Amino acid sequence: MNILLERNSPTPIYIQIRNYLARLIQSEKIVNGQKLPSIRAMSTNIGVNKLTVIEAYSLLEADGLIHARPGSGYFVNRTITPCLEPISRSTFAPSQEVIILQGGGSFFEQYTNSIQARRQGGMIEFSSGFPSTTISDNLQRIAKRALVKAGDTFLREDFPQGQLILRQLIAQMLIGQGLDVSPAEVIITTGSQQALSLAMQYYLQKDDWVIVETPTYHGALGILESLQAKVIGIPMTAEGMNLELLEQYLKTHRPKLIYTISTLHNPTGITTSLAHRQTLLMLAQQYECLILEDNAYEGLKFQPVPPPIKALDRHNLVTYISTFSKTLMPGLRVGYMVVTGEHHQPLVKHKLLNDLHVSTVSQAIVSEFLATGHYRRHLNRLRVSNLQSRNVMLQALENYFPEAISWTVPQGGLFLWTHLPSHLPIGEICSQALSHNVLVASGAAFFLGQGYPAMRLNFSQTPEDIEHGIKILGQLIKKYSTANFTSKCVPSQRLPVSSIFS
Ligand SMILES: Cc1ncc(COP(=O)(O)O)c(C=O)c1O
Repeated sequence: MNILLERNSPTPIYIQIRNYLARLIQSEKIVNGQKLPSIRAMSTNIGVNKLTVIEAYSLLEADGLIHARPGSGYFVNRTITPCLEPISRSTFAPSQEVIILQGGGSFFEQYTNSIQARRQGGMIEFSSGFPSTTISDNLQRIAKRALVKAGDTFLREDFPQGQLILRQLIAQMLIGQGLDVSPAEVIITTGSQQALSLAMQYYLQKDDWVIVETPTYHGALGILESLQAKVIGIPMTAEGMNLELLEQYLKTHRPKLIYTISTLHNPTGITTSLAHRQTLLMLAQQYECLILEDNAYEGLKFQPVPPPIKALDRHNLVTYISTFSKTLMPGLRVGYMVVTGEHHQPLVKHKLLNDLHVSTVSQAIVSEFLATGHYRRHLNRLRVSNLQSRNVMLQALENYFPEAISWTVPQGGLFLWTHLPSHLPIGEICSQALSHNVLVASGAAFFLGQGYPAMRLNFSQTPEDIEHGIKILGQLIKKYSTANFTSKCVPSQRLPVSSIFS
């Protein structure tokens, strides 16, 4: 088999191979049950590394188009399940108005409750922000090798921006995602939570206006609240932040910063299009506003996504943040930021004042994962298992949840966002679920004020747990739906544009 590859194309080679083979399979030019060329034969035929072929085959497997038979190779599936298409009810949440932060965030409670639940064991943990099954039997071996290689350097203090080798490897990885970045522009941080905190502290002062999507990551809301910034929540649509409303508020409030999660948004799972990203950047430029782009989940994508907003930035408006917590291990606490231009050096100094530098042991382990290709292989495996878990959850929702409930169908990440009818007492449903060892959190934490009733469900669980947990939740929701329950919700305090001038 020969595949015409465009070596200078921005589309990575493994994606080109996957796309080519997917087209052949879908048009039945490779027939069902047929064996694909072996990894070695394919890599020799088309002149690429074996790892590249493995990545392409793993993606096809995640797409549901082929399967591996141990010892025999890869075969085209007999019945092609279009795994990348939504297989169930899917709509996005109700239209909302702009919300101004009203305080009282619950990040602390949700985070600590989730850790507590995991420690207890036996809990089905739908509320967690982290993958439930993380790494790999290889961890100990890789960690040991990393420490041997690092010699005694990991015992010593280090530069605040982090180890050069890790910054080089991250820059290389980001170039593959379409970013034009040098190792000197990367700052390693203690998780991306610290990167968010450093950037928000540096860019904002008390009473500055800042724009976020609503709903959004509650850990970011917690920081903004502690800084006493004035936060405007622009509603998410199925395409991302509502850009018309964004422009209105850029005009009227002249915010300093827009915080956005452009890919596999937390909590909704939505990924914005290239056009949306271009318009957002153009608006920020026009109204002289900076952008903080949080890309925590891109590593968990099921299919290609547009390049980050930072890749389009020619005027150093965008500070880019990401992490290894969602893909490797949250406990390592390794995240990073890309800062170009005048803000780079002050942010390195700010990092130094915070905690000097990230643990050298954690940095060495991440470097070893990246340098040896284990990271890419691990991501491929994770994609396959997350896609399966997502589909199990979609099917379980379809089976057990009543008609009135809808959800998003994310193409990666860790979460589904479910929207519930407003008369349902979510708090009560969550506490009843807890008594059945199912931990769910109300979506309220992701809104700046009163949003709409919703739940974020982490799908990175075992199929058995998903089936069991969703069945229990479905039964509870049905019980309360038929109980003619009168609403206990506080009336919404959404404000019209004109009423929130400072
Ligand atoms: C969007 C987003 N950003 C940042 C973080 C912080 O993660 P960490 O500090 O572990 O990198 C999270 C964690 O849930 C998140 O969801």
